[in-house]
Amino acid sequence: MRVLVTGGCGYIGSHTITDLTSRGHEVAIVDNFSNASPAVLERLASITGVRPISFQADIRDRAALLSIFQEVRPDAVIHFAALKSVGESWEQPLRYFDNNITGTIVLLQVMHECGVRKLVFSSSATVYGMPESCPISEDAPLRVTNPYGRTKLVMEELIGDLCAADESLQAAVLRYFNPVGAHPSGELGESPSGPPANLMPYICQVAAGRREYLNVFGNDYDTADGTGVRDYIHVMDLARAHTDALDALNTCGESFTVNLGTGRGYSVLELVKAFELASGRLIPLRFCPRRAGDVGACYADPSRAAERLGWTAQFDLARMCEDAWRWQCRHPNGI
Ligand code: NAD
Ligand code: UD1
Repeated sequence: MRVLVTGGCGYIGSHTITDLTSRGHEVAIVDNFSNASPAVLERLASITGVRPISFQADIRDRAALLSIFQEVRPDAVIHFAALKSVGESWEQPLRYFDNNITGTIVLLQVMHECGVRKLVFSSSATVYGMPESCPISEDAPLRVTNPYGRTKLVMEELIGDLCAADESLQAAVLRYFNPVGAHPSGELGESPSGPPANLMPYICQVAAGRREYLNVFGNDYDTADGTGVRDYIHVMDLARAHTDALDALNTCGESFTVNLGTGRGYSVLELVKAFELASGRLIPLRFCPRRAGDVGACYADPSRAAERLGWTAQFDLARMCEDAWRWQCRHPNGI
């Protein structure tokens, strides 16, 4: 298939492109580089042997997007382009609503106009808010707790309504749990700008000596060691699920929503230990109060993804840490 990837130079998009290309799909990227570097294109070329066609454009720019669609003539779209920081979304909610929701509406309009009928959409476990119990299935109540989460839920709903109104449009909504790790080459990975908000990139920077210690946000949760439990998933497993989702849309011809996680939760302290083993570095810790809005435990029931896509996560926590650490060592300042 010829696949247009919005946000394709970002963390998850770039890894997904390596999987799409290795499985014979043609890829074109649209990215405004608000949170990515064009250097990713060279890395993709060296990893895959193919330099993807890319367009620097904002997906809210209707005219630009239309001309890209007319030039590329995609069979399907994978839609990653979004702002994704929970903290920033409280500071600038309108910017989040505009970038994420308006951007998605413009994309859906242009897809409609150009007759593109298949969409894979990046959603997030954030739509489950504070889950009542774990593992979390797709049927769990949806209740968001921050403006970023709101944008994901609204986008899911818009896409759902559109698919219900027009059966020829099919969407795969993928709810990611906690993506971590990097491409095994060490040439692609996550490059947070400023101090990392998320655990794995923060640990990487402590191990590299860029930060003195890790703040552990809370050790009084109702979990085995008191620290927060999450379902970390290797970004290459996540990448593979996108190609599988495209295949499923082609074969089953109907829309679906699936969780993408391993189904196994690890605590902050377990992740730190695994990282220390993988890197041979000590991670100094400082225990702090809970982070506002955090939940004690959050992990997926990934069985629907297994049924729908024949997909299960392959990489374990050790491998997630090894690959994250390789990327950190090779590119200490990000891309
Ligand atoms: P990222 O910031 O690395 O990638 C997003 C890409 O989209 C960037 O390259 C950015 O430049 C681009 N972009 C943003 N707004 C754009 C716009 N208006 N027009 C064109 N390009 C635009 O983020 P990521 O971690 O790769 O996340 C990809 C998707 O997955 C996002 O939708 C995110 O909300 C979702 N998600 C991410 C996580 C995570 O932990 N990384 C978890 C759940 C869901
Ligand atoms: C974060 C986002 C969530 C998003 C998810 C996907 C927030 C509040 N939530 O969730 O919307 O869907 O990423 O990846 O940002 N921790 C520390 N010290 C740190 C950083 C984190 O102890 O410096 C702990 C947290 O309290 C949590 C765990 O590590 O228990 C994981 O945190 P993080 O990586 O930020 O992910 P989430 O909180 O799951």
